[in-house]
Amino acid sequence: MTNAAIGFGGGKIILVGEHAVVHGAPAIAVGIGRGVSSIAHPADRDSLQIEPWGKTWRPNAESEDPLERAFERILSRYADRPPLRFVVRVALPPGAGLGCSAAIGVSLIDALDKALGVLRSRAELGSLALEWERFFHGDPSGIDNLAAALGGLICFQRSSPPRSISPKSSFYLVVAHSGQRSSTKEMVARVSRQLEQRPDWARSVLDEVNTLALRAETAIRSGDLSALGNVLDRNHAILRSLNLSTPRLEGLCQAARSAGALGAKITGAGGGGCMVALATGAEQASRIASALEAEAFIEEVGRAA
Ligand code: PMV
Repeated sequence: MTNAAIGFGGGKIILVGEHAVVHGAPAIAVGIGRGVSSIAHPADRDSLQIEPWGKTWRPNAESEDPLERAFERILSRYADRPPLRFVVRVALPPGAGLGCSAAIGVSLIDALDKALGVLRSRAELGSLALEWERFFHGDPSGIDNLAAALGGLICFQRSSPPRSISPKSSFYLVVAHSGQRSSTKEMVARVSRQLEQRPDWARSVLDEVNTLALRAETAIRSGDLSALGNVLDRNHAILRSLNLSTPRLEGLCQAARSAGALGAKITGAGGGGCMVALATGAEQASRIASALEAEAFIEEVGRAA
């Protein structure tokens, strides 16, 4: 190869089912426009430079740093290739529940594929990125890497291919950062411990999330945003009962509802990170965002192309 090749992986917002998805329940996520781009350049040796973090990594299967081990694993999937230098631009906050690590993995694999002329579907790319995710999240469900690769609205359940969902009408999501970073790996372990200790309760939680995901999908397909908002609120109550909320996240959810959101919840791993609130229109979304006193952005979902 003589030229640089560019890859992209998007961030994601989970609308319903985070954590429960690790334990087999369905979840619904939407890919977002902001994400991670990686440029692969011909070089003398392999390296990975992640720009906002001002550091360079080398592939190393024995390293204590999971990033170096993950980088090595992904490169090892490509036999007989020239050395490459990757420059990665991350436009997502890490540890915020927006799928930053998955987006990095997807963008790197995409750049590698393009640099080396490997053809594969976005779904295959997303599946391969699960190998990358495992270095950071222990036992990831696979929703982040697929959402990062596919974009759009998907319903995902472990061991099944993702299904794409077409919304009847577009809607708006307001995403606000609590300002607190959290570790997905620790939050997943926290939930697993609680579910193991109380198996009957665990079953009822997973059953309810199953029902909520079905209701959310029906609501999205039929354009019933008020029903979707109720699902978000109820899912938030479940996540709170799993000790994943914080006073700051509770304050953001309350403020969003008071400003007119149809529903609001933690999105992603929780314990910090982001809140997502549902709005019917752009003006309402911008009123909610202004009321939050937090770093926030608005995502329109389902706009006709
Ligand atoms: O916090 P994030 O963006 O890594 O999202 C994690 C979603 C979980 O359901 C908590 C974990 C998983 O692997 O599905």
